[in-house]
Amino acid sequence: MKYIKIVLFFFVVQISAQQGGMWIPSLLEGMNEQEMTSLGSKLTAKDIYNVNNSSLKDAIGHFNGGCTSEIISPKGLILTNHHCGFGQIQAHSTLENDYLKDGFWAMNLNEELPNPGLYVEFIVRIEDVTDSVLLGVNDSLTEREKQSIITKNGNALQKTTEKEAWQQTKIKSFFQGNQFFLFVTERFEDIRLVGAPPTNIGKFGSDTDNWVFPRHTGDFSMFRIYADKNNHPAKYSKDNVPYKPKHFLPVSLDGVEEGDFTLVFGFPGTTDEYLPAVAIKHITQEYNPTNIAIREAALKVIDAKMKESDAIRIKYASKQARIANYWKKWIGENLGIQKSNAIEKRQEFEATFTKALQENNLTEKYGNILPEFDKLYTDFAAINIKRRNFIEVFLVTNELMSMTFRAYQFEQAVTKNPKDLDKARASIENTLKSIHKNYDVTVDKGVFENVMPFYTKNIDATIYDKTAFTNLNTALGLFNGKAKKVLKKLNNDAAYQYAKPMIEAFYTSINKEYSEKNAPIVALQKEYMKALMEALPNARYFPDANSTLRVTYGQVRGYAPRDAVYYNPVSYLDGVIEKYIPGDYEFDVPEKLRELYKTKNYGEYADKNGKVPVCFLGTNHTTGGNSGSPAIDAEGNLIGLNFDRVWEGTMSDMNYDPEICRNIMVDLRYVLFIVDKYAGATHLIDEMTLVHPKKK
Ligand code: ARG
Ligand code: GLU
Repeated sequence: MKYIKIVLFFFVVQISAQQGGMWIPSLLEGMNEQEMTSLGSKLTAKDIYNVNNSSLKDAIGHFNGGCTSEIISPKGLILTNHHCGFGQIQAHSTLENDYLKDGFWAMNLNEELPNPGLYVEFIVRIEDVTDSVLLGVNDSLTEREKQSIITKNGNALQKTTEKEAWQQTKIKSFFQGNQFFLFVTERFEDIRLVGAPPTNIGKFGSDTDNWVFPRHTGDFSMFRIYADKNNHPAKYSKDNVPYKPKHFLPVSLDGVEEGDFTLVFGFPGTTDEYLPAVAIKHITQEYNPTNIAIREAALKVIDAKMKESDAIRIKYASKQARIANYWKKWIGENLGIQKSNAIEKRQEFEATFTKALQENNLTEKYGNILPEFDKLYTDFAAINIKRRNFIEVFLVTNELMSMTFRAYQFEQAVTKNPKDLDKARASIENTLKSIHKNYDVTVDKGVFENVMPFYTKNIDATIYDKTAFTNLNTALGLFNGKAKKVLKKLNNDAAYQYAKPMIEAFYTSINKEYSEKNAPIVALQKEYMKALMEALPNARYFPDANSTLRVTYGQVRGYAPRDAVYYNPVSYLDGVIEKYIPGDYEFDVPEKLRELYKTKNYGEYADKNGKVPVCFLGTNHTTGGNSGSPAIDAEGNLIGLNFDRVWEGTMSDMNYDPEICRNIMVDLRYVLFIVDKYAGATHLIDEMTLVHPKKK
């Protein structure tokens, strides 16, 4: 009996090693380090994060605030996803130089293309500053008073933090405001485009294959970080030189097999793993559905027009991808929550929590939390949906409405303080220029007709023929002149007249009511987090993603999404050819790639079975923002590039289920194969350090 118990114990530990989690890199010693070792890692916590010596973290950069990238050469070469560099690739694309369609490869440093506004940020060190930030905060204060002390303490702390002149600091809240960390960072702003495969490789399968396995996408692009002559961050200058990093990742040529250890290191954006059941129900049954419908209505127009014209395809590429990505994700999320009975399971968990409160004499202190959540969400649901619908219609899908929205903000700023006219004008001019850079009025009018009915009964598409906003010059003209004249012109504009009452209502009633009803939920979520940790102290807690650097680890694993179906963890070039549809906008395959497949010209990039691997799956717990994150092997070498999750597991932002949640990575050998054999950019391969960790 004792023997069985011991075996069972180990079994439980083994399984729980796969339970997910996004861990803070400076706190891996102890539990995480042991668990990683049990999964096959040979890395120590210090190999991953070290303040005094170089470590893996020095190679991991936050790419433009939304994705992750990693340094792969001593000359500051970085790798990220194709979809992360998509905006930059699009910006350099024209009908003559269609880098989206044909790909782009700089054959030397001089050909690398600068990208104004793009930045990559590294973490110098992380400090727990909870005590200083919460100094003077106590339960007798209101939420607002607490917040103001927290902000004040944080600002004071940042002023006295030791750092170099070229470094920055920021403070982030963890565990719903129960813990605070300070980050010292370095931000590089001269980032140049080095290479990108054609969309038919980098976005192969497009929306049909997005969030889905089996996957065959070579979702990568390459950039280079430039620094000043002291190797410090600097604005773009032709005199800047390639950055010499503290650490870069060697690239493994030995690939992966099922069960191999994988560590994904990056900047996950947002998760909500500790929601009450009532919140999951609201999000999946009430909130997601109309947002899905609005995006679907917009995509109907955009997709059709993009197929009709190359000029529109280039203009709307990024925007379409952005809208389509979460449209599809929400559908998958809803399906997954439903199929895995996540709401019932969360209710069962809540019963366990309630029992634990009783057993620990905590009912008086925390027993009101769950009933209170029920009440608050009932009250919050309608306004949350209404506010989000406004955002989807006015700010995500329709461009004319976005322009009027920014114009409204302009009017508010100028009315409040006429002295700010020039500043406000510069800002609206920037917005108009950036929207018009990729604007097509027929697309936008079609979107308007399709999405507006989700928000109002008052639909008037004739404003498109009367407004000045649909043409850049006339739009800029509206804002020319003295404040009084500008506001008069603006208020005479047909689109502005149409939109203004709705925008006004958004600010004065919708957003206001939303904030009032959301604030107690946020405060209660903080209390709930604290209660969970007190009532169930032996459970494992990791902080929700908040765009800070995290480690998630696991193993290469397939999965069984339904009865009798098992997905192998590795896909191959053969699958690209299987999916090939000549001339199709999603599944066309470049001729050169088909040729390489035919002649089996694979160099050293094939697997043991003689096939070129394309993508593989892991049990790493990832989310949006982890795009471009390196997948690192047991010894610290680069083996893959994270870019997606599987359809059945997209719910993992609220409900990580180790059985079916998998992240999808591009195999680094496919990246090397495309760079070397497809693009002939062998000088980039020569910069890297290629290793054979399995053939020692
Ligand atoms: N789903 C991935 C992510 O969330 C990839 C998106 C880019 N690909 C696409 N077909 N839109 O960002
Ligand atoms: N594609 C996502 C991104 O852009 C990562 C995949 C995910 O959400 O898991 O960050």
